[in-house]
Amino acid sequence: MRDKSLIVIAALVVLVAAAIGFAVGRKSTPEPQVATPPAATQPAVASTAEPVSAGDQIDGIRRGAAVNREIAPPLMARVENTDIKRNRAYPMQPPTIPHSIDNYQIDKNSNRCLLCHSRANADKFQAPPVSVTHYMDRNDQFLATISPRRYFCNQCHVVQTDAKTLVANNFKDIDTILSEENAKKAN
Ligand code: HEC
Ligand code: HEC
Repeated sequence: MRDKSLIVIAALVVLVAAAIGFAVGRKSTPEPQVATPPAATQPAVASTAEPVSAGDQIDGIRRGAAVNREIAPPLMARVENTDIKRNRAYPMQPPTIPHSIDNYQIDKNSNRCLLCHSRANADKFQAPPVSVTHYMDRNDQFLATISPRRYFCNQCHVVQTDAKTLVANNFKDIDTILSEENAKKAN
């Protein structure tokens, strides 16, 4: 009989404690925040494919739009598949690719570019073989096979497109500068 009343009291204490805990817990839970989407008051800036002048704006991709504004992306450039080499702006420029490279897979197991551009196959496809730098490791030692540093070709080489210059610039290559200096001396 004494045991029974003890059990009842214990059960009551547990119930009351749970009720208090529940009430306190409810109080301390923060009010649910209603997420208000940022008001889209700013109109989208029209896309301009014109290069931004170098002095005013160096960010050619955002084209001067404030960071909280969304701008319409410029149209995608068209790949030129003409087989015509472009001049290199300086001797160490990776030449641009004069042909399209759609679906040319490069991964751990295969490298489509090397099908034509490896030394062994270049004659079959009449492609220029990769130069000797592509066989050098970072200590300038020559390897028998393509260097891992030069394996992912489009890390450096890009296809030729009709894209306009993003940022205007007045770059002159070294030949232009030298001929200008020679002309000055001659005067
Ligand atoms: C089917 C053979 C073939 C494949 C595959 C191929 N190329 Fe070419 N590539 C050529 C040929 C041929 C040329 C010479 C110019 C021409 O005819 O387009 C060339 C030219 C180039 C040039 C210009 C070299 C220079 O001196 O200006 C680069 C750079 C180049 N390819 C890179 C690549 C890359 C990178 C890949 C892979 C994404 C690739 N090629 C895949 C055949 C190929
Ligand atoms: C780390 C940058 C880099 C990577 C990666 C790279 N190249 Fe090059 N590539 C260059 C540079 C720079 C040149 C020009 C100077 C030279 O020959 O090293 C060049 C030159 C070339 C040329 C012209 C060679 C000549 O004698 O005129 C071809 C063709 C070429 N690369 C193809 C490839 C192919 C195919 C791959 C992938 C297997 C590749 N490159 C990976 C930087 C790179």
